[in-house]
Amino acid sequence: MKTALITGASKRIGKSIVEYLADKGWNIIIHYNSSERSAKQLLQALSLKFPEQTFGIIKANLSVETETAELIPKTITEFGKFQLLINNASIFDSGYLKETTLNLFENQINTNLKAPFVLMRDFANYCKNGNIINFVDTRITSNKSNFAAYSLSKKALWELTKMAALEFAPLIRVNAIAPGATLPPTNKDENYLNKLAQNTTIKKQGGVNTILKRINNILKNNNLTGQLLFADGGENLGQKE
Ligand SMILES: NC(=O)c1ccc[n+]([C@@H]2O[C@H](COP(=O)([O-])OP(=O)(O)OC[C@H]3O[C@@H](n4cnc5c(N)ncnc54)[C@H](OP(=O)(O)O)[C@@H]3O)[C@@H](O)[C@H]2O)c1
Repeated sequence: MKTALITGASKRIGKSIVEYLADKGWNIIIHYNSSERSAKQLLQALSLKFPEQTFGIIKANLSVETETAELIPKTITEFGKFQLLINNASIFDSGYLKETTLNLFENQINTNLKAPFVLMRDFANYCKNGNIINFVDTRITSNKSNFAAYSLSKKALWELTKMAALEFAPLIRVNAIAPGATLPPTNKDENYLNKLAQNTTIKKQGGVNTILKRINNILKNNNLTGQLLFADGGENLGQKE
């Protein structure tokens, strides 16, 4: 049976990925930082629903270097080697270039780029075989700067994805998924998403299912590496005139 480590997996998109992969027979290690209660509830629900499979939770603050460095070795000590790493955890802070403090910049880069870098490197060194999936964002195709540091962190993560795909091949495949607006930020609702969906080519929300299908595309296609799979209703194509 195969095992996956998914970061930021106790809620929202991460949680949906956990449930999707659990349903497909995977053992799952749910990484969390602040959402301990949600992680424990998810663990309990999965253990009841899939008693033959193994589930675990592990905490690490990915903005803290020492905690990030310990995550893969600790996961292996506790649960053994695993075959799939999904870098889903992320922070999403707004700010144009002119208003981006170094503190905001470093927080975005540390959590969204440096942590995935360390986890990918350690996965390659310790686990040696399997798949890495990095979550980027359809925003990487534009130069809009209203989320400047966030966008830069995700643009760089996509470059890192390609570099790692080349270096870690053929034993490890590395791909990225670029969602468009999928779930509203905590201070916004469905109307906000419906409005944003009007900017996409398809003009309707794809929801989390679009992302789950992308994960399936990657896992099922043994020939796929270094690729960016959009889950954005065509938003990356830009606007019609
Ligand atoms: N939501 C969207 O519409 C959308 C659109 C485009 C791209 N994406 C990408 O898709 C992925 C999932 O999106 P989402 O909206 O579900 O993410 P999210 O809710 O904003 O964040 C997911 C998790 O990241 C974890 N996290 C944040 N800071 C952390 C830290 N310092 N250390 C460890 N974990 C930390 C949090 O875990 P805890 O709660 O345990 O602290 C959080 O639950 C992200 O990579 C995002 O950039 C999402």
